[in-house]
Amino acid sequence: MHRKDSQQQRVRAFAVIAFVVAGAACARPVAPPPTPQPVIRPPQLVPSPASLVTASGAAFNITRATGISVDTTNAEVRAIGEMLAALIRRPTGFPVAVTSPSTTAGGAIILRLAPERSSLGGEGYELNVTTDSVRLVAASPAGLFRGIQTVRQLLPVDIESEMGIERSSWTIPALTIVDQPRFAWRGAMLDVARHFFTVREVQQYIDVLALYKLNVLHLHLADDQGWRIVINSRPKLTAIGSLTQVGGGPGGFYTQQDYQDIVRYARARYITIVPEIDMPGHINAGLAAYPDLACSTRPPGLYSGTDVGWSTLCVDKEATYAFVDDVVREISAITPGPYFHIGGDEVQTLTPEQYVRFVERVQGIVNKYGKKMIGWEEITKARLNPTTVAQQWKSDSATAALQYGSKLVLSPAPKAYLDMKYTPSTKLGLNWAGYVEVRDSYDWDPATYMKGVTERDIVGVEAPTWSETLRNISAVEYLAIPRLPAIAEVGWTPQAARDWENFRSRLATHEPRWQYLGVNYYRSPQVPW
Ligand code: ACM
Repeated sequence: MHRKDSQQQRVRAFAVIAFVVAGAACARPVAPPPTPQPVIRPPQLVPSPASLVTASGAAFNITRATGISVDTTNAEVRAIGEMLAALIRRPTGFPVAVTSPSTTAGGAIILRLAPERSSLGGEGYELNVTTDSVRLVAASPAGLFRGIQTVRQLLPVDIESEMGIERSSWTIPALTIVDQPRFAWRGAMLDVARHFFTVREVQQYIDVLALYKLNVLHLHLADDQGWRIVINSRPKLTAIGSLTQVGGGPGGFYTQQDYQDIVRYARARYITIVPEIDMPGHINAGLAAYPDLACSTRPPGLYSGTDVGWSTLCVDKEATYAFVDDVVREISAITPGPYFHIGGDEVQTLTPEQYVRFVERVQGIVNKYGKKMIGWEEITKARLNPTTVAQQWKSDSATAALQYGSKLVLSPAPKAYLDMKYTPSTKLGLNWAGYVEVRDSYDWDPATYMKGVTERDIVGVEAPTWSETLRNISAVEYLAIPRLPAIAEVGWTPQAARDWENFRSRLATHEPRWQYLGVNYYRSPQVPW
């Protein structure tokens, strides 16, 4: 925050000097000074768009008179127009009216839904900027939302300031962008079980996802150390199971209203929440609440350590499936997204037969409540439905999913696990998958990463953040930025349009944005800041 304030003071001081110099020039009886030409920066977009053509030298300048024109009868499109207006109003102080196209006032920024442009896909958009107008067209509201993130990144970084800024120009370079994502699933996962994160903290993370055009937030809602969402039919899950976290802190949980607030906040940014309840393992918090669900006669207590693989539901008890049914039913009812994540990883205390029987039965329960199942790659030991998705994280075992027509989300730990340390001197994070610098996260192609897995087999990519060492969202951000923007580009940009040297120089220009936004980040020596 201090950095941000001092940056704004620098900007202010510059504005005052510019004013004094201009005044002195006007005092002499000579021709008026030429109108200052705005500095037009080349676009520094992350993720890089599928296609971009710049018109050299020209730009659109936002002024006090600029308005945004949208079809105001479409509430969703209007809300997107209002989001862009709010972004511009904050640092500029300009009124930025949002009006319907028939109104002649202002309206030089035009957002238009064009369902007939179906070749743009569900999240694509076309952006045309000239000196006269900014025209954004998409076949869906999600495309318009992704497009306004591009407009945002094309504006000077001062657009992110929370405070008024004196600038002579707010330009957007003249260009044409036609853009859509490579993969349908571009996700991040946040482990709210090992440490609990408040609703506001989760929303702060969603804001980062939105800026980089990510569209899935997977919430790891239960693990050995904590159960983090109220299940009305099983009240002890949170009454008892939420009471601690790694290191023995107080833990916490979301009411169903809290969870719905997160879902709504994400939805307004065209981000799908994927809830995960990890089972049959990673379940100690649930067993501490309902000891009858364990096979052991010794009641388990709450756990605040970090070992894995030792807890399991008693999969041979019928009561276990009534429990799973309650949990899946209640969470599915408040989850508009199509997926329910069952975890399924690191089960060391069941036979393969027991594990497979459990996963297949739970798959039926998830489907019964209208959701598609997703699970960590271990679930590929079971017979999967074609709608089920396997999430690769550690090996090539996920390829077994392909025989069932199931698809994969790739989260390879040495590339996409944001809880891995950057280098041996990184204070936060773990290193079981090695050290993961920004280039490691960027420089890989999902379509060639695994033998036998082609582009068509992959729904997308996801960057998980496990929170054993992370006690607040600032710590999460330190590990996520800049690797999450790197994964965002892996998921969005066509492989042929990606290049590390180009990426790292674009990435460097985002640093003042992060400073303005108050988000923490790692100043990697690989990036030319
Ligand atoms: C995992 O990292 N245990 C999925």
